[in-house]
Amino acid sequence: GRARGYSVSSAFDFNSALFPLSSSGAGYTSIGAPTSQDYELGTQSLEKNKSLTFLNGLSLVIGLVIGSGIFSSPASVNSNAGSPAASLIVWIISGILAWTGAASYAELGGAIPLNGGAQVYLSKIFGEWAGFLFTWCAVMVLKPGSAAIIAIIFGEYMVRAVIGADAMDASPWINKGVAMVGLVAVTGMNCVSTKLGTRSADLFMFLKFVGLLGITVTGIIVAATGFAYDKSALSTTWRTTSWFEGTSKSGAEWAVAIYAGLWAYDGWDNTNYVVGEMIHPGRDLPRTIHTSLPLVILAYILANLSYIFVLPSDTINKSNTVAVAFGQAVYGPIGSLILALIVSGSCFGALNATTFTSGRLVYSAGKEGYIPSFFGSIGLSAGSQPMKLSRRSSRASRLVRWMADEQGFFHTPIWAMALNFALTAIYIIIGDFATLTTFYGVASYLFYFAAVVGLIILRVKEPELERPYKTWIFTPVIFCCEYRFIGGELGLEENEDLKGSCSWGHNLPRYEGRAAEASVLAEELSYCVYLAKAARLSSSFTSKRTANI
Ligand code: ARG
Repeated sequence: GRARGYSVSSAFDFNSALFPLSSSGAGYTSIGAPTSQDYELGTQSLEKNKSLTFLNGLSLVIGLVIGSGIFSSPASVNSNAGSPAASLIVWIISGILAWTGAASYAELGGAIPLNGGAQVYLSKIFGEWAGFLFTWCAVMVLKPGSAAIIAIIFGEYMVRAVIGADAMDASPWINKGVAMVGLVAVTGMNCVSTKLGTRSADLFMFLKFVGLLGITVTGIIVAATGFAYDKSALSTTWRTTSWFEGTSKSGAEWAVAIYAGLWAYDGWDNTNYVVGEMIHPGRDLPRTIHTSLPLVILAYILANLSYIFVLPSDTINKSNTVAVAFGQAVYGPIGSLILALIVSGSCFGALNATTFTSGRLVYSAGKEGYIPSFFGSIGLSAGSQPMKLSRRSSRASRLVRWMADEQGFFHTPIWAMALNFALTAIYIIIGDFATLTTFYGVASYLFYFAAVVGLIILRVKEPELERPYKTWIFTPVIFCCEYRFIGGELGLEENEDLKGSCSWGHNLPRYEGRAAEASVLAEELSYCVYLAKAARLSSSFTSKRTANI
């Protein structure tokens, strides 16, 4: 079975690691649809259970993408871009980057419809080592690190909603405590059943649109009528001053602004992690992408227009919590309370969406033998049966049936969730996030970039490969050029000062060292484990060879 395309190997394969695109029959060659034999290997049992629909895909993407960013990145975008018009341009540029990246991922996901996202694309295209490196970084740092950021922002807004503006003076441990409670809640939900995870994602998706729509409508009303609770807090300049006034001339500032925008759009690859569980991946994945991204881009631009109509630049630039300032200015204390609740709800939804897919990523890393296989099991122990609904309970409450998977409860990658939980909790506790977020942006876009370059390579090397969805060839090219331009030309990489303070739009405490150390450690560890595996496999490989002679 290993010679076929989508081998779902249960162990790390040295041959294909060394000769990824060779025609020797090892690794990635003749690709067709995954055969039933592939699934019969029994390793990807989650993928046998195909349950995700277009709507689920949509809410996985939108649920993660609309999180904290649109409600708090504007400070960083506006203050760096310098003027309202420039900041709108930044939102468009980063939106295009996200959309072209996502469209490229839609092609990859259709051609290689397995769980794991970049993990499988990089392995199939560049060799197992690339997927391995990505997986380690994603499992150890990227996924839990970004989840921790979202959780902390959730805690911050929740505390603010409950104890009001004084929250800023309260101990950060209160925020972290609330963040932890949120994390426990989403992890619990996702362990109980797949349905509970995806259903709550659906629910949150609608809440978020309602929130953004509310902001937009409010902005239009304020612009047209001048209605506001606190008229002195309103912007007076947008009618009279040029929207371009103050536009930054520094490339590095633009780069930081764009990275702040990218954080708000990040998460567009979320459905790719679970393609293997989609009922019609070839059809629904591109549909998901081309529905969700234009919607999100439009919603973000409208929300930003509203911010500009309502709030003076100074307020936007300084406030880490633009949305709350917006609510306060227009509707008074009630407004700021409602906005704080909406933002924390939005973050909670994003935490839920990222937890859902992190679980699957860790799970497939376990399956592939990248981390102990124990993490690649379903349920509490290997071979354990899901908690079935007895006949009585299946007649019982509709709520119970609404929550349960076909197989009952706890048919989920529980140990993978546990690992993700533990790592996220650590990041919440050590919590110097500013640099973790910068690292997150730089590292995750590096992998996105590699995968999109891989798409182009794959087009050349495997023209015959079946691609249910083929994106316009300029899509990956635009993505790659734009990405290189931001990192290279605009000079984010060169600017030492900005490196440490670029915080994806959140003015969280400045980095003190541990977070970046964690990421470097994860990377180094991954090299070691990879080398150890390769050495072990190569010795068993040679001993087999010599035994045959
Ligand atoms: N766009 C999201 C937000 O605004 C952040 C997504 C983080 N990415 C991730 N893969 N967890 O909060």
